[in-house]
Amino acid sequence: MDRMTLLPEEYEQILRIKRDLHMHPELAKAEYRTSGVIREFLEQLPCVDILQTGTPTGVLARISGDGGGTEIALRADIDALAQNEIYESPWKSLNEGVMHACGHDFHTASLLGAALILARIKAQGQLANTVDLIFQPAEEGTTGARSLIDAGLFERIHPRAIFGIHNRPSVESGKIVLHEGALMAAKRNMTIRIKGRGGHGSMPHLNVDPIVCAAAVVQSLQTIVSRNTDPMESLVLSVSRIEGGSPVNRVADQVEMNGTVRALSDEALDRGIARTEAIVSHTASAYECEWEVVWEERIPAVRNLPAMAEAAKMAADAAAGGCVTDAPPSLASEDFALYGTQVPSWFFWVGSGTKGEPVEDLHRPMFHTDDRAMQQAAQLYAAAAMLTPQELHLQ
Ligand code: NI
Repeated sequence: MDRMTLLPEEYEQILRIKRDLHMHPELAKAEYRTSGVIREFLEQLPCVDILQTGTPTGVLARISGDGGGTEIALRADIDALAQNEIYESPWKSLNEGVMHACGHDFHTASLLGAALILARIKAQGQLANTVDLIFQPAEEGTTGARSLIDAGLFERIHPRAIFGIHNRPSVESGKIVLHEGALMAAKRNMTIRIKGRGGHGSMPHLNVDPIVCAAAVVQSLQTIVSRNTDPMESLVLSVSRIEGGSPVNRVADQVEMNGTVRALSDEALDRGIARTEAIVSHTASAYECEWEVVWEERIPAVRNLPAMAEAAKMAADAAAGGCVTDAPPSLASEDFALYGTQVPSWFFWVGSGTKGEPVEDLHRPMFHTDDRAMQQAAQLYAAAAMLTPQELHLQ
């Protein structure tokens, strides 16, 4: 048996952890129990050092190499979503309104599985690389990576490469998706405010109605994708919330909207942002309203570096016995991309769908994973952590 294989008793251990986390999901920035479970698990392993993260719920651990290697970081996210679970299982969520609907429990348990494999290899004196294990809070809402980095992550660890994974229910378990280049979208979320002048609904000529203006803005924003974007480019613009108004006989003072602009290329995203500002500002002035667009931090695209493709394939082949496939990119975003702005990075999708079953995708109340795929996921993390500097083209 290959030393990087997750042993049956190790699989049983991480399956127990996964189901425990699944029953006790916690929202972004509130992963106190979860981080406690992770820390407790790691503390009983020989050769694993727990480092500070400077954040309340992040966990950072290190397995020091025996020399001759490099330093590699592995990242899993740990938070859950604010929604009810409908899928019936003995380990259904016990926290009303909170569900591991994106499988971050799967990622967490898989990274703990990799820790088991790597600690075993270390105990045999065969671990050359130093491996940093990052358990990141608050991936949902994409603020967790930023909080770890701002709290000094890359002063505590100095990886020469970083790897992350996400489960993929639309891909059968047992398979790993390898995709070079842009994998997940760059995004920028926004708040748009349209300010008018409220007053009695019977005297519209004396007021400035922001609702009519907001309706025109929402309609016009749709033309950014249809009229301003190269049809070969992928851009999404969605207005996800609109709020304004008061009782029936009154014109509102203000309308507030939230939305997101996302694209696989920086150029397309820049154009989407510029056109959004132009449409909001010119439409508002045409309707005699004041306006404001407040942008959240830009999350870059997850881009898998061509220079790492060969090494990533070696790790995937080792983990999945050659069951490696490709898949088209997704317009979802991932704050794993922020690590990639500082360290060469590769992000894998790990098939988690059950063969023959309808796909229940991420963030759905019926979402669930084929947990047997945690074997491939744990082995993938471990294999990536064992790549040599030569294989990673670091020399
Ligand atoms: Ni997710």
